[in-house]
Amino acid sequence: MSAIESVLVENRVFAPSPATVKAARISGMAAYDALCAQANNDFEGFWARLARDHVVWSKPFTRTLDESNAPFYKWFDDGELNASANCLDKHMGTPVENKTAVIFESDDGTVTKTSYRELLTRVSQFANALKAHGVKKGDRVLIYMPMTLEGVIAMQACARLGATHSVVFGGFSAKALQERIIDAGAVAVITANYQMRGGKELPLKAVVDEGLGMGGCESIKTVFVYQRTSTACNMVAGRDKTFTQALAGQSNECAPVAVGAEHPLFVLYTSGSTGKPKGVQHSTGGYLLWAKLTMEWTFDLQNTDVFWCTADIGWVTGHTYVAYGPLAAGATQIIYEGVPTFPNAGRFWQMIERHQCSIFYTAPTAIRSLIKLAEGDSKVHPDRYNLDSLRILGSVGEPINPEAWMWYYKNVGHERCPIVDTFWQTETGGHMINPLPGATPLVPGSCTLPLPGIMAAIVDEAGHDVPNGVGGLLVVKRPWPSMIRTIWNDSDRFKKSYFPEEMGGTIYLAGDGAVRSADRGYFRITGRIDDVLNVSGHRLGTMEIESALVSHTALVAEAAVVGRPDDLTGEAVCAFVVLKGARPTGDAAKAMAKELRDWVAKEIGPIAKPKDIRFAENLPKTRSGKIMRRLLRSIASGDTATQDTSTLENPAILEQLGQTW
Ligand code: PRX
Repeated sequence: MSAIESVLVENRVFAPSPATVKAARISGMAAYDALCAQANNDFEGFWARLARDHVVWSKPFTRTLDESNAPFYKWFDDGELNASANCLDKHMGTPVENKTAVIFESDDGTVTKTSYRELLTRVSQFANALKAHGVKKGDRVLIYMPMTLEGVIAMQACARLGATHSVVFGGFSAKALQERIIDAGAVAVITANYQMRGGKELPLKAVVDEGLGMGGCESIKTVFVYQRTSTACNMVAGRDKTFTQALAGQSNECAPVAVGAEHPLFVLYTSGSTGKPKGVQHSTGGYLLWAKLTMEWTFDLQNTDVFWCTADIGWVTGHTYVAYGPLAAGATQIIYEGVPTFPNAGRFWQMIERHQCSIFYTAPTAIRSLIKLAEGDSKVHPDRYNLDSLRILGSVGEPINPEAWMWYYKNVGHERCPIVDTFWQTETGGHMINPLPGATPLVPGSCTLPLPGIMAAIVDEAGHDVPNGVGGLLVVKRPWPSMIRTIWNDSDRFKKSYFPEEMGGTIYLAGDGAVRSADRGYFRITGRIDDVLNVSGHRLGTMEIESALVSHTALVAEAAVVGRPDDLTGEAVCAFVVLKGARPTGDAAKAMAKELRDWVAKEIGPIAKPKDIRFAENLPKTRSGKIMRRLLRSIASGDTATQDTSTLENPAILEQLGQTW
C-alpha cells in the first residue's frame, strides 16, 4: 500500500480575500463550522431541512433516512418528485424563465443560446417523442451522444418520464455498448449519426449498429438518431427514427411524471476491481438535492455567474455538473462540444473570454496538457486572453499536483480566484471533500475538508481512525443523500465493494488512500488502493484491460496490467503480455504491440489502449502462482532497486519485462 504511505509537506497557504469571504454564500470558516455542527448535532434534521429548502416535492417526505436495511440506505423515501421539473418547470414564472440556461459552442465555434423556457419546451417535446415510442416510467434508456445540448435534452427527457438513463461515453466501443445495453435491459438507444471532435467527424450510429448486431440486445425497440452532421448514416426501417421524424407533431407540453425519491434516476457504468464494469445506480431525490446544493456551496453560485464544467455527459461530472446541478440551481452554463486543443490550445481561454465565464471547472489532465502547450507557444498562453470574468476555478477527477495547481492559480486565476479541488466519485453522486471558496484557506494539492454532513474519515484496515499525518483508507462513516444505492443487478457486489464486513458492513469504503495534514487536518488523496487506474481522469480497471487482452485467444496466453505514473496523464496503462507463440522482438514486437492496442480499443475503447506493451516469456509469480503485481508496478515505473525478487522463479525475465514496445 505504498500509495497511502507518502506524506506531502506543503507549506503554502492561500486564504480567500476579505472581499471574497464577504460576498460568499458560506462566508468564512465560522459559517462552515456552524453547518458542520448542525449536521453533527442533528444529522437527520440537517438533511431534512436542506431537502425541504432545495427540492420541489410533488409529495412531501415524512421520513428522512431509513437505515433499517443498511447499507441499502433510503433517503426521503416516501416523498415524490420529478428531476426534470426541479431543473426546468420550477423556474417558470420566475426571473430565471427567460434567462439563458445553456450557451452551446460547437466544435467549429458556432454559438447558440437557449433560455430555460426554450429548454423546457425542447425537453417536453422530446419526452413526448419517447413516450410515443413506448418509453415509460421504470424503463432504461441508453444514451450514446456527442457533448451537445441534445445530449442533455435526452437525459432530461428520460427523467421527465421517470425512465432511467444510462449514458455511455462516446469513446467506448461497440462491445462496451452492447454489454451495457444487456446489463441494463435498455428499451431504446438515443444516439447521433456522428460526433464532431477537433474538426473530425466520428461515427456514433455505426458503433450502435455494430453493438446491437453483436446479439443479446433484443430489448431495444427504438434507436433515436440526432443528425449532428449532414452525412448520411445507416437507418434500420421500423427500428430507427431520426430526431426530426420522432419529434414531428409532438406537443411541446409534457407533464412531468412524479416518482418516489428512491426511484433510479440513472445508472452509470464505471470500472471496478474486476473485469466487469459496474452499473452505479443513483436515486432521484437525494441525488438532485446534492447536485443543486453543491453548485451553491462548492462554487458559491450567484445569479450572474456563467458556469462552465468541461466534462462530457458520459462521465459522472457531466451528469451532476452539466445535466442536473446547474439547471436545478438556475445557472447559465456553457456546454462545449469539442476538445481543448482545437483549433489550438488557446480554445478554453478564448471561450472564457468570449462567454465571460466566471466559474471554470476542469480536470488536472487538461490543465497539465495546456500548461505544456502554453509554455511552448506564447500564442496559446492564457496571458493572451482577458480572463477577468473568472472568479472561481475548480479541479476534478484526479489528484492535482502542486505545480499544476500553482500554474492554474497564477496564470488562469491571476492569484485572485480560489481553486476548489473537489474529491468525489461516480459512486458519491456529487462533491465530498473540497474547499468552500469564501471560507477555506487553500493548500495546493489538498482537497482540504469534507462538506458539511459528509462524515469522511481515514482509518486503518480494521476500521479504526488513524491520527493526522498517518496514511490510511478513506471512508465515509454515515450515509449521505446522493450516495450510490446499489450496483444494478448485483446487490452482493455492492455490499462487498463498498461496505466491508471487517468494518461492520455500514461504513462506505471509497477505494482511495488518503492522509490528513498534521497541522490543519486537511485531506490529501494519495490514489486508489485497488486495481483501478486513473488515466487522464478516466477511470479504468486493470482487470478489464487484462480480460480484453486475453480475449484475443489466438495470440495472447497471459496478460497483467498495471499503472505507472505519467507526467501528463497522471497514470498510464502498462501491459505485460505472454504470447502463445515465441516472444517477439524488433519490428515484429512493434507490429504485435500495435495489434494488441487496436484490439483493446475495439474491446473497450481507445481510452483504454495500453501506453506500454511489454512481451515476456512468462510473468513473475510467487511459488503459489500469484502474479507479483507489486513487482510489475515497480518495473513499469522503472524502479526495481527496492524490490525483493528472491521469491521469483525466473529472475532472468526481469530484463525482458523492462523492454517497452
Ligand atoms: O481516485 C479518486 C479520483 O477519481 C476517482 C473517482 O473516479 P470517477 O468515479 O471516474 O469520478 C471522477 C469524477 C468525480 C476517485 O476514487 N479523484 C477524483 N477526484 C479527485 C480524485 N483524486 C484526487 N483528488 C481529486 N480531487
